[in-house]
Amino acid sequence: MSVKSIVLYPEDKEILRAKCRPVKSVSSWVRQLAQDLVDTLNHHPEGVGLAAPQIGAHSRVVVVRLGGGPGSEREPDAPMPLINPTIIEARDERRDFDGCLSIPGLYGETVRPHYLRVKGLNMAGRVFDRVFEGFDAVVVHHELDHLEGVLFIDRVESLEYLYRVVEGDDGQLVRIPLTPVTRSE
Ligand code: NI
Repeated sequence: MSVKSIVLYPEDKEILRAKCRPVKSVSSWVRQLAQDLVDTLNHHPEGVGLAAPQIGAHSRVVVVRLGGGPGSEREPDAPMPLINPTIIEARDERRDFDGCLSIPGLYGETVRPHYLRVKGLNMAGRVFDRVFEGFDAVVVHHELDHLEGVLFIDRVESLEYLYRVVEGDDGQLVRIPLTPVTRSE
């Protein structure tokens, strides 16, 4: 894999804020970008999605691992690339778990559609048109946000929905709310 392309936690956060351009075709360059995303996500088993800006590219390519999420009994699927993904329909908004490999250690709850119909291209350059439901829809929506320069922290409505996760004495993961900011007045 092209390790040099990994900028998951870029010092220059503007890399994550730029809007991405559609690709003209699924060229060998685009396939390599998608493969770099797959390889990078495979190095982060805790992650369920990754978007091109997170490895420093500003083309509309993301990868997602379906079937995972809180409460899922099984490991999520292998990373699947979505190229030029476009939302056709989004509904059934609910509050759900959110987090991002580019913002390690911080989690939150955001409101996102749990029914998402997306059109785009697969690695073979063929058009796909499919529906993602439940947490899969949340994951795809989060990754598509990255292509617009939007991060999950933008969608967290208030500090009470933002928290860190640490391992407690008994080995269980516990949520630690962020300390409220003290205002000097
Ligand atoms: Ni993310």
